[in-house]
Amino acid sequence: MPASTPLHIIVLAAGGGSRMKSLKPKVLQMLAGKPMLAHVLAAAKALNPARIHLVYGHLGAQVRAEINDSALNWIEQIVQSGTGDAVKLAMHHVPDGVRVLVLYGDSPALRPDTLEKLLQVPQPLCVLVSEVAAPAGLGRVQLDAQNRVLAIIEAKDATPAELAVNTVNTGVLTAESRQLRAWLAQLTPNNQQHEYYLTQIFEFAARDAQPARAVFTTDAFEGFGANDAWELAQLERYLQQREVRRLCQTFGLRVADPARVDVRCTSVEIGADVELDVNVILAGSVKLGAGVKIGAFTRICNVELAAGTEVLSHCDLDGVISTGACRIGPFARLRPGTKLAAGAHIGNFVETKKAHIGASSKANHLSYLGDVEIGAHVNIGAGVITCNYDGVNKFVTQIDDGAFVGSNSSLIAPLKIGANATIGAGSTITKDAPPEMLTLTRIAQVTRTWKSKRRRG
Ligand code: UD1
Ligand code: CA
Repeated sequence: MPASTPLHIIVLAAGGGSRMKSLKPKVLQMLAGKPMLAHVLAAAKALNPARIHLVYGHLGAQVRAEINDSALNWIEQIVQSGTGDAVKLAMHHVPDGVRVLVLYGDSPALRPDTLEKLLQVPQPLCVLVSEVAAPAGLGRVQLDAQNRVLAIIEAKDATPAELAVNTVNTGVLTAESRQLRAWLAQLTPNNQQHEYYLTQIFEFAARDAQPARAVFTTDAFEGFGANDAWELAQLERYLQQREVRRLCQTFGLRVADPARVDVRCTSVEIGADVELDVNVILAGSVKLGAGVKIGAFTRICNVELAAGTEVLSHCDLDGVISTGACRIGPFARLRPGTKLAAGAHIGNFVETKKAHIGASSKANHLSYLGDVEIGAHVNIGAGVITCNYDGVNKFVTQIDDGAFVGSNSSLIAPLKIGANATIGAGSTITKDAPPEMLTLTRIAQVTRTWKSKRRRG
């Protein structure tokens, strides 16, 4: 088929997935931070097809809601009577004379490059196969000396001799649409599972002297599907290793241990000389400037950190922006809406939320800073709490440049602390504190002579 032939992709995602032992449909099981099916659809989209047809069924409403993509042609398979039946349903929406690519929604590791390679084979029928040491439940591919497919036998139907074959079906095939339709019309459910197997078409093609061409994966794991939780866990490790490798090779990322970084990102951008210590999780959208260092046991989710920012160990950052080099942690929790300017320090056991921290301002120990606007060169003492919530509404605390808030003060919002104001330690501040002045609320300390009961006794 010429390269210009339109491409229709059929993705199968209707199966029950009972082996997963989960209340969630199999294709929505999470892998590297997104549903398994989302990985398959991303690879499909990368091929720029004319149309993607998605066959869904089991817990279909959940699948539709979660994937939420109206550009797909959603086709419901009400009774899941096999992969052959699923493709047949989708073929009602595919014209003659186009190229069809079938993908399984539970095989999420396939790279667009590999699929392109398969699409380049000018054969009317082509299948992606792998050589694996322990093929267990996978379909066995019978080949002749020229890598032409004679048949694909499902494990449940195979004789011991057929099971001894190590070449397996990945489930990925390409076909000319008119031919495919003709073969699908001949499927019979004469097998152990009484299902319409898509794999039966390979027998028909061989019979019609048009045997499928088998193309081998270079990395067997790529074609691996996840039917149960153990396979899912192995795929997770495989995808993580692959993504960390990509980040190292693309951005020069330094990792202390590639096996102890997890990437669950929707997008990642990393500058030069960024370092990740062990057990770091990157999630959501992550942008790290040059020289950023992330300490051990830290999660970074939806963050943008300016060059030179250092996050020490055991921090949790979610929805954070630093606009200049600053220092965070160890043991800090930065929640959505936190924005740090150059030279800011957020230290141990400090929690921030909707907090703007100005240049060179510091909150080094034990604080809650919520709904705050903090200027430059402000010092927040240990144990300072912004009391931003009265049980119904949230209020803002504003702390202007150069202010010094003494330790263990409660700032009852709404409140403004003026520039260069000092708040005496241990104060409960309920009204605005003027600039340049000392404000404190404190009962005078008294000292008396007395004898304690212990001394009297
Ligand atoms: C299938 C192949 C097997 C191959 C393996 C690779 C068949 C008959 N067998 O087996 O040769 O080695 O994949 O991973 O094709 N689905 C539907 N509708 C259905 C049944 C299944 O949409 O009626 C979907 C499932 O959601 C799944 C995919 O098709 O995404 C594959 O089905 P599954 O039951 O997992 O097939 P396997 O037993 O893994
Ligand atoms: Ca499967």
